[in-house]
Amino acid sequence: MAILFSTKQLFSICIILSFMLSFSYGRSPNPAFRIKAVNLGGWLVTEGWIKPSLFDGIPNKDFLDGTQLQFKSVTVGKYLCAENGGGTIVVANRTSASGWETFKLWRINETNFHFRVFNKQFIGLDTNGNGIDIVAESNTPRSSETFEIVRNSNDLSRVRIKAPNGFFLQAKTEELVTADYEGATSWGDDDPSVFEMTIAGRMQGEFQVTNGYGPQKAPQVMRKHWSTYIVEDDFKFIAGNGLNAVRIPVGWWMASDPTPPAPYVGGSLRALDNAFTWAGYAFFPVPSDITISVTTSQDLTIMGGPVHNTPKYGVPKPMMLWSQHQCP
Ligand SMILES: *[C@@H]1O[C@H](CO)[C@@H](O)[C@H](O)[C@H]1NC(C)=O
Ligand SMILES: *[C@@H]1O[C@H](CO)[C@@H](O)[C@H](O)[C@H]1NC(C)=O
Repeated sequence: MAILFSTKQLFSICIILSFMLSFSYGRSPNPAFRIKAVNLGGWLVTEGWIKPSLFDGIPNKDFLDGTQLQFKSVTVGKYLCAENGGGTIVVANRTSASGWETFKLWRINETNFHFRVFNKQFIGLDTNGNGIDIVAESNTPRSSETFEIVRNSNDLSRVRIKAPNGFFLQAKTEELVTADYEGATSWGDDDPSVFEMTIAGRMQGEFQVTNGYGPQKAPQVMRKHWSTYIVEDDFKFIAGNGLNAVRIPVGWWMASDPTPPAPYVGGSLRALDNAFTWAGYAFFPVPSDITISVTTSQDLTIMGGPVHNTPKYGVPKPMMLWSQHQCP
């Protein structure tokens, strides 16, 4: 509990101030001391490129939050476009796709999404008009801005978009996109509700992985990751190979652990507490000084200092340190 409290305090300090803070216990670090550190990326802050397999179990994992999609109507042969980048109608008259033709997903769950346009509005039914025209006018996503993406299982690049009124979007003409197409499809080029989809960009971070698994599954997946990806033996290995520091990227949401804002999952602070303990035992097998620095609001460096006359092990000291340093 004391440890939890103290790491939390570290967060409040670093997040509020968000500039270089450097602490040392007792006296300044030895100037001859050289940091030899390794970055423990992908542990407490997820990065898809570091551990792709963490994303493997996400249902409908091509459609993570932040994914950028472009849609070409198979009947008119042109791209969907939020005219003017947003604020007005959605058309299907562009021969190539760029900013205005790119729709960014806000993932609600594995089947339901909002589509955000270039100027940050959401596409939806024209509730001020006939109720079926597709516009990009709302600044907040409501139920009239909630869509399902249905993929052709034989050709995943072919999709239909189901509107909240139960009908599918169709490109009636190049200048008229409506949500009034009913019924099944054979996915042919003659079906105005079928679009050729291009994935123009993806994001794979902590938000995507926790939002992707959803509130039931994410806590289980993340806690397993935190407790297995970096373990005490890694610290022993790091110290045993001549390094004397680790850099641990941390997320702003950890400041409110164990109840971070959704979709983030609580429990990563416990892993960070473990890191303090393990770093202490690995880097300070003999009584020594310890320095912890926060170089940005999202990085933490734990490193060893010169041998110092302290009680057994350096570990409890930084913990005490946090409770001694109050925010000014
Ligand atoms: C997904 O979200 C929609 C809209 O909030 C909801 O109606 C639907 O039941 C949800 N589906 C699942 C599988 O959770
Ligand atoms: C697409 O349609 C809109 C609405 O009619 C029109 O203002 C715009 O000029 C058209 N753009 C192209 C490239 O045809």
